[in-house]
Amino acid sequence: MKIAVLPGDGIGTEIVAEAIRVLDALDLSFEMETALVGGAAYEAHGHPLPEATLKLAKEADAVLFGAVGDWKYDKLDRPLRPEQAILGLRKNLGLFANFRPAICYEQLVGASSLKPELIAGLDILIIRELTGDIYFGQPRGRRTAVDGHFPGADEAFDTMRYSRPEVERIARVAFEAARKRSKRVTSVDKANVLETFQFWKDIVTEVHKDYPDIELDHMYVDNAAMQLVKAPKKFDVIVTGNMFGDILSDEAAMLTGSIGMLPSASLNSSNQGLYEPSHGSAPDIAGKGVANPLATILSAAMMLRFSLNQAEAADRIESAVKHVLASGLRTGDIWSEGTKRVGTREMGDAVVAAITKKTITG
Ligand code: IPM
Ligand code: MN
Repeated sequence: MKIAVLPGDGIGTEIVAEAIRVLDALDLSFEMETALVGGAAYEAHGHPLPEATLKLAKEADAVLFGAVGDWKYDKLDRPLRPEQAILGLRKNLGLFANFRPAICYEQLVGASSLKPELIAGLDILIIRELTGDIYFGQPRGRRTAVDGHFPGADEAFDTMRYSRPEVERIARVAFEAARKRSKRVTSVDKANVLETFQFWKDIVTEVHKDYPDIELDHMYVDNAAMQLVKAPKKFDVIVTGNMFGDILSDEAAMLTGSIGMLPSASLNSSNQGLYEPSHGSAPDIAGKGVANPLATILSAAMMLRFSLNQAEAADRIESAVKHVLASGLRTGDIWSEGTKRVGTREMGDAVVAAITKKTITG
């Protein structure tokens, strides 16, 4: 089993280091190889996704990814910006199915900005289509227009589009995932306005005929954004397009009060996957040793479960994390009165300790 390790920028290197220590503590045999990605790769090789990094990722069974980006790259031409690395990996590896769980950990109910009763026990799974939609649709561009949409004015445009196979396969992923949970799927669209999303809705409805055991409902994205803060526990599996999924998954993550806790998985049709925390590179706290490594550690658990066929090892990581939270340790992002504030390294140490202890006592 080969893991490509791509720590990236900002806090990426610190949090990935802890996830690797946790993986090492499991005593399984993986081959791990590290490469530069994002701003770090741009600095060293002039490109955010160098050929060698892409090759390593393609050949690995799984990619463990930290985070990319820094404001200092905002002025670069778009193809050279750090974000292009993650978009390029998604496209080149065909990682069309993005799983973003939003789970509210019992001990962290108080960290949410919502009332405890609204989010206690929250467990939503957002399934975001990741390689289509307006993110990748052509044509796109910018032009000085004499003949354009607004005569005489400069303009820019992107194209929202989905093909039948793209919608069918993500719908199947969602129905299959729901089968292992509460058997409910909400498909989020904007069919009242957009042709692309009327098409999306029609196809999801068609595919649903193969899954009579699953309950399906459809919701417009604006209403979904509202319902997520009004009554989030009404949702179970949400399936949606690339852009709506980007926005709703941040919203759902924040419901739990702790984006520093949330892992994600992006899979292709052969279950090769890229695993990364749901948060970004946080340049403001980079290098300070205060970032929360738990989202990345939990991403490593998802990697073991989905791509490396090591469900038991994944369980061990997840229970170690729960154990550490129960013991009262908190990084700054999830700290509250009465808990003990620790740094990135100490949090990693605690998870490693919990895992090793479990190994001894069985
Ligand atoms: C995410 C991020 C990315 C996205 C950016 C960094 C390209 O926001 O993974 O949600 O928009 O998909
Ligand atoms: Mn996002």
